[in-house]
Amino acid sequence: MCLYLALNPEIQRKVQAEVENVIGNSFPQLDHRKSVPYTRAVIFESLRCSSLTPIGIARRVLEDMAVGGYIIPKDSLVFSNIYCAHHDPEVWDDPHSFKPERFLSSDGTRVVKCNDLIAFSFGKCACPGEVLAKDQLFVFLTSILQRFVVSLDPSEKRPTMNAKCSITRFPLPHKLVLEDRRN
Ligand code: HEM
Repeated sequence: MCLYLALNPEIQRKVQAEVENVIGNSFPQLDHRKSVPYTRAVIFESLRCSSLTPIGIARRVLEDMAVGGYIIPKDSLVFSNIYCAHHDPEVWDDPHSFKPERFLSSDGTRVVKCNDLIAFSFGKCACPGEVLAKDQLFVFLTSILQRFVVSLDPSEKRPTMNAKCSITRFPLPHKLVLEDRRN
């Protein structure tokens, strides 16, 4: 999330403005969430772009089953291609760009629920840590931006949104500068 905000300083400033207006200098509370739609949209867009668990977790099929015209035999291992679903150009406009607006109503005042965002998967096997993870992302993001401006290290090569992929997806090594906003 910090990397995306450093690559997109305009977006970062918008989050900071919203945090300043709604939270000010107080400690961010989960209750603040309902009043910061842009900040929440940034979290959703970070979850989409990063697709932290790109192929979910391997699951084993317990009995022969038919899905979408395919027979999946008992004991097959099944992976869900979350990264692909999050970057499908037929679903997402300009999928490789970081655009929080895609999760906002046209007047920007509301977060729009989107069933195509499946960072935590869905159904019976969905991630049990979803609520905790979203709470933490909110508190960490707002706390960091309350205090710091996050930017790219000018002495380093400009990082990209490319990532290394294994069970989780993570950005290539890069350096960021955190500048205290109170100075
Ligand atoms: C941004 C953070 C996170 C993302 C994107 C994420 C995503 C996922 C995904 C996609 C799955 C696989 C679901 C499936 O197979 O359909 C999963 C499983 C799981 N996650 Fe998370 N997760 C996150 C944070 C957490 C946290 C904070 C916890 C615990 C505190 C957690 C605990 C688990 C566990 C235990 C499973 C396995 C559940 C099972 O096998 O039934 N996750 N997660």
